[in-house]
Amino acid sequence: MRIVSGIQPTGNLHLGNYLGAIRNWVKMQDDVAANGGQSLYFLADLHAISMPHVPADLAANTREMVAALVACGIDPDKSILFNQAQVPQHAELQWLLNGTARMGWLNRMTQWKDKAGKNREGASIALFTYPVLQAADVLLYQATHVPVGEDQKQHLELARDIAQKFNNDFASEDAPVFTLPDPIIPPEAARIMSLRDGSAKMSKSDPSDMSRINLTDEADTIMQKVKKAKTDPEPLPSDKDGLAGRPEAANLVGIYAALSGTTVEAVLGEFGGEGFGKFKPALGELLVTKLAPINTRFIALKDDTAALDAILRAGAAKARALAMPTLDSTYAALGLVR
Ligand code: TYM
Repeated sequence: MRIVSGIQPTGNLHLGNYLGAIRNWVKMQDDVAANGGQSLYFLADLHAISMPHVPADLAANTREMVAALVACGIDPDKSILFNQAQVPQHAELQWLLNGTARMGWLNRMTQWKDKAGKNREGASIALFTYPVLQAADVLLYQATHVPVGEDQKQHLELARDIAQKFNNDFASEDAPVFTLPDPIIPPEAARIMSLRDGSAKMSKSDPSDMSRINLTDEADTIMQKVKKAKTDPEPLPSDKDGLAGRPEAANLVGIYAALSGTTVEAVLGEFGGEGFGKFKPALGELLVTKLAPINTRFIALKDDTAALDAILRAGAAKARALAMPTLDSTYAALGLVR
């Protein structure tokens, strides 16, 4: 079993990242270590330059994200933790896969359509070829499983399509160059929505900080954000069907269920019939209790630049070594003389 996943260091780690992905990273890190497998988690800093960015912020956010991931429980002794920019094999493999990926496949990517909007002519080429780099990220290590939130599912399907076409075109059936990776998407928190709008996902790029819970938020801020979260005037229903057409209520109940490790049905069993005046403080307190230890660890780590850089350097060295065999066989399969 080989687990690979990444996150863009473009701002704070938020609750969506945590419940949708990072919590699973931590869980799987121990599972794979117990089974003699390997987990690799990286900061997708090369992906971060596909949108306009401030270089000094990217550098600061990269280190801050390492501190946040370690605070969440990623252990650099158990997992390989690194950033793409220190493992040039990612960009190299992307170029080799560009010959296999099709324009039509990339044109269908919803993230490309959303982020480019109407201004496709003005979008960066990196934004368009972003999913090919993402495919390279996982194929480079022969990943078997990729823990992600729901929004990355389409990108992973594309990675499988690229791997399959490459294997078909350039490898023999009994010796494929790439492993086809399976996404691992959590059942209860695959898509955490904005606190201000139940139809938009919680995101680092939302200009309103009130729309998300950051893992670095203080207790007061968390309570305030939950209190101000958009809801409707109805009490909570006693079964899941009653949440239909109530996206904000469904989101808050889903967050409660995911954080407390139970199901939406169980949460409604407890709070069904209650108004938000009772549910919101309970949710706020649950968030504070679960996030406080992460926050404390984060504060202790975040300013030790030397230690954070050392983690990335050591992780990158291990990642480069693991990446080389696949990269070599890709060059060879394509007939490139080196
Ligand atoms: P990114 O940085 O947007 O998000 C990191 C992880 O958090 C999940 N996530 C969410 N899950 C539930 N609800 C939300 N509101 C929410 N917002 C984010 C994402 O699904 C993701 O798992 N392109 C990727 C980074 C990447 C990557 C990869 C991932 C680059 N290469 C290879 C996996 C494998 C991204 O921008 O994620």
